[in-house]
Amino acid sequence: MLLKLLIICVISAISTGEKIRYDNFSLYKIHPQNEKHLKFLNELPKNGDDLHIWKLPTTIGDYASVVSSPEKKDSFEHSLRKRSINYEVMLENIQQAFDDQIMSRKRRDTRNQLFWTNYQTMEDIYEWFHYLAEQHSDIVTVIQAGQSFEGRNITGVKISRQSGRRAILVEGGQVGADWLSPTVVTYIVDQLVRGAEPEILEAAEEFEWHIFPILNPDGHEFSQNADRLWLKNRRPTVGNSIGVDITKNWNSHWGVRGVSFVATDSNYAGLGPFSEVETRAISNYLDSVAGNLAGLLSFRSFGQRLILPFAHTLSHMYNYNETVIIGRRAMGSLAGRYNTQYLVGNSLEVHDGATGSIADWVKHRFNSPLVATYLLRDTGTWGYTLPVNQVLPSCEETFDSVMALVREAKFVGVL
Ligand SMILES: *[C@@H]1O[C@H](CO)[C@@H](O)[C@H](O)[C@H]1NC(C)=O
Ligand SMILES: *[C@@H]1O[C@H](CO)[C@@H](O)[C@H](O)[C@H]1NC(C)=O
Ligand SMILES: *[C@@H]1O[C@H](CO)[C@@H](O)[C@H](O)[C@H]1NC(C)=O
Repeated sequence: MLLKLLIICVISAISTGEKIRYDNFSLYKIHPQNEKHLKFLNELPKNGDDLHIWKLPTTIGDYASVVSSPEKKDSFEHSLRKRSINYEVMLENIQQAFDDQIMSRKRRDTRNQLFWTNYQTMEDIYEWFHYLAEQHSDIVTVIQAGQSFEGRNITGVKISRQSGRRAILVEGGQVGADWLSPTVVTYIVDQLVRGAEPEILEAAEEFEWHIFPILNPDGHEFSQNADRLWLKNRRPTVGNSIGVDITKNWNSHWGVRGVSFVATDSNYAGLGPFSEVETRAISNYLDSVAGNLAGLLSFRSFGQRLILPFAHTLSHMYNYNETVIIGRRAMGSLAGRYNTQYLVGNSLEVHDGATGSIADWVKHRFNSPLVATYLLRDTGTWGYTLPVNQVLPSCEETFDSVMALVREAKFVGVL
């Protein structure tokens, strides 16, 4: 009876537009010390109904990031202790942390201003893009890659100070719950349009920047308005399941590793490569600039990693050796401001080895010289609940490193 009531409550909460609450859900950072621990953690998605998996480890020394409901908490902790797996409770109540992530909508005072001291909404970002294009019509154009499953625009801007330049595509917002990458990406737009330092002007003149902050608009909106923990897009798939993890839906070694083929899972890779309208739209857009594509920078939360293609193999292909040097130097620049430390490398070495990413696809298809995925702050202390006071620092340090990537790539002769 109680359960029935609860289900009715949840359903009516969704249909009346109320948000799902995560009161007293806890965030764990879990440290595997042997192969058995690794195996146990990597099987959690199969076994843990009430668990939200934010990150799984591929190596001993790496960590898992997991959210548990208050009901599941005791048995989950027991199962870890029974296996002598070390864990830390990072947050006792993630709802509190979410409530503290004030939306910029409430803080905006003028129509035309965007702030980087808050997370931003899609509506504000798109409105600002149109404003920028009006104010800087000589260099900024609003661009459309197409529409999401629910009909939202996948909108970006093109920043071009000189014609005939090679293109760099910058994107974020593939994961609904990741509110940081869209905000960081708009900061990059702002700097490239308004930044006056010689290095910024040079980067803006030398390349044509195609920038899309939100590749998964439906998931982003759903995370902001209904379910803060939502990761996937919003297309109904199999049975009553909704959504595909679009970070794993690109046509490069699709489904080989680190993905699920179970539609209810949060890392479900879809029915096949490019099964989703969002990934198809951006891939078509990329094809349209292909001849000219010098680079792709993909942004998402979280982990503090710069990942280089490819995830399916440990062998270092194409210009990996040069790119890893460029990447390390750029992450040195990133650390210069707030001492935020990033690791640089192949996904299997420094992250989860999940295949089918946009970066791997771009490298595979176009062999563009500068291709990398940023996993932004942090390393599991807050995860997707990162406090707003870390938003601007994340933007600043990331932009420093983007300029450094371009600088070092030119220096080494890759760009
Ligand atoms: C969360 O936990 C606190 C302390 O145990 C308790 O007082 C409160 O009622 C809980 N909130 C919800 C919504 O379950
Ligand atoms: C989507 O973009 C098109 C073309 O710019 C525009 O006409 C339309 O109003 C946009 N739709 C929404 C829902 O914003
Ligand atoms: C890249 O570096 C590794 C060792 O650091 C080396 O074994 C390999 O041959 C290099 N690859 C290329 C293509 O230079």
